[in-house]
Amino acid sequence: MSYPYQITSLKHYQEEYKRSVDTPEEFWADIANHFTWHRKWDQVLDWNFYEPRIEWFKGGKLNITENCLDRWVETQPNATAIIWEPNDPSEPHRTFTYKELHHKVCQFANVLKSNGATRGDRICIYMPMVPELTIAILACARIGAIHSVVFGGFSAQSIADRIQDAQCNIVLTADGGFRGNKSIPLKAVIDEALTTCPSVEKVIVLTRTSVPVSMIKGRDVWWEDEINKVEAQGNPICKAEIMDAEDLLFILYTSGSTGKPKGVVHTCGGYMVWTNYTFVNVFQYQPGQVHFCTADIGWVTGHSYIIYGPLSAGATSLMFEGIPTWPDAGRFWEIVDKHAVDILYTAPTAIRSLMSFGTDPIKGKKLHSLKVLGTVGEPINEEAWHWYDEHIGKRNCPIVDTWWQTETGGVLISNLAGITKAKPSFATLPLPGIQPVLVDENGKKIEGNGVSGNLCIQFPWPGMLRTTFGDHERCRTTYFSTYENLYFTGDGCLRDNEGDYRITGRVDDVLNVSGHRIGTAEVENAINMHTGVVESAVVGYPHDIKGQGIYAYVIFNGIHIDENQTRLDISQTVSKIIGAIAKPDKIQFVSGLPKTRSGKIMRRILRKIAEGELANLGDTSTLLDPLVVEEIKSNKL
Ligand code: PRX
Repeated sequence: MSYPYQITSLKHYQEEYKRSVDTPEEFWADIANHFTWHRKWDQVLDWNFYEPRIEWFKGGKLNITENCLDRWVETQPNATAIIWEPNDPSEPHRTFTYKELHHKVCQFANVLKSNGATRGDRICIYMPMVPELTIAILACARIGAIHSVVFGGFSAQSIADRIQDAQCNIVLTADGGFRGNKSIPLKAVIDEALTTCPSVEKVIVLTRTSVPVSMIKGRDVWWEDEINKVEAQGNPICKAEIMDAEDLLFILYTSGSTGKPKGVVHTCGGYMVWTNYTFVNVFQYQPGQVHFCTADIGWVTGHSYIIYGPLSAGATSLMFEGIPTWPDAGRFWEIVDKHAVDILYTAPTAIRSLMSFGTDPIKGKKLHSLKVLGTVGEPINEEAWHWYDEHIGKRNCPIVDTWWQTETGGVLISNLAGITKAKPSFATLPLPGIQPVLVDENGKKIEGNGVSGNLCIQFPWPGMLRTTFGDHERCRTTYFSTYENLYFTGDGCLRDNEGDYRITGRVDDVLNVSGHRIGTAEVENAINMHTGVVESAVVGYPHDIKGQGIYAYVIFNGIHIDENQTRLDISQTVSKIIGAIAKPDKIQFVSGLPKTRSGKIMRRILRKIAEGELANLGDTSTLLDPLVVEEIKSNKL
């Protein structure tokens, strides 16, 4: 097995990049030809960014799971598809060959069918990081059902919002999940969510923590019992549903600057080609290597680089149930040695957190197997980059800094491991097919090097989002209307004198906390749900480990017991409404918020104060009540 479309040198990259821009349709058809299709496409690409309408491999028929499983069962049935490392290091790990994974996926696909699932259904998955999560996702894809995975840290309210938005009829969950020394009561959270979700008819519950759970007659069934039933029927095969290239593969909810999270939609053909192509090229994956992506499958990184990218490439993908710091801060390194990991792909926040423990947890760890390191999710500061390079890569492993988004399906800007040069804190160069442009606030393209602007992409790529579920207009206004005929990323970006790209962070009201996207409006709405809160404003501030922390300014009507207790109550409210990941790090009580005469909150001023830049707040004379700024400054936390 090898990848005919793997880029092998800098010159080769330059040639491929040029070809992808000059003749994109030929370029992508050549790559797509290496996959299993039931019918080839009539047209490679049909698009406009006005509506927007983006169609790749139009008329093509396929099932992504045949590309992730069946074709490898034919050529390498006993190759390892998944290595699963449990939360507790004393529990045995599990491995699945391609043949075994295929069998499990077929089996669970039959369970889904026997529970009434059909093509086009939306299925919500709220599960811990166990192999059955991967099996569940692939089983949905097998039968043409659309999966909507919700991260295990989200609250009942957040799950209910997502289930209602997608009108899911089935939920897949577990009794609970392990993370570090915590046990998370997933089924209890689902039960709470489902009190407001009449569309849900079936809940299939996996046993993981063996905590007692309530099982509602007619609605809730045990995973294991259902497997036994389909086994007793003796049909181990589930034929793959033949999908159109543009049929929906999954929905994944993500935060924006306004309103509730939106359901980003990815489709079967383009997403498959894009995740595979980027996986093979960015990480320079070689057959037989072990790829360890530390993300949770609840986020897009897990979808693309634990499941679809690696498995569609016949790779060995390692999934880890736990957290990097439990039982101690050497856990990642222990896993690397235990499973001879070749490629480690993690987030800057994890690196910074592990850095804070010093080098003791690395002592005695060999890390000899590592060949490539990667980062994703947020800008990586140079200090963390060098620590990763020196202590983990031993200055011998290229680091790929991969910039992308839930909406982009896979990596858009990154160096290619060992092929194109790395530059600390730079994502560097666009992948073939990606045409980045920088624009100023008026939408004017900024040409040349040594410039900064808002990052847009001017041509479609196969893995891009197609719509936001149930609300195409929202997709248009969010991504395609800010600048005419461009996809707007929401990120600020520098193109340096050598033409390398460095992503500088969001330019909208979206925070990036520990690599997770959180909309300030969402956090404010949650804070405002607390009975005593009159109004609030949320901004980000630099945080040593998390990258960004959440700073909330809150107008509160009567402190109950004491300020700290009220802070805890507000945090608890946010946790209940969104999930613990959105809890504010700092809550400052204020008597008013700086507003313009038209009533708009001046976040720029609040951001500066939170960042500690008290001296240079700019002109505050146009504010409704300039004095409030003085009060906020003097009480800064
Ligand atoms: O601001 C960018 C940042 O994360 C955002 C996307 O978040 P999400 O959709 O949750 O996907 C995260 C995993 C792909 C981007 O708009 N971001 C992601 N990767 C990088 C990054 N910022 C700088 N450098 C990166 N490598």
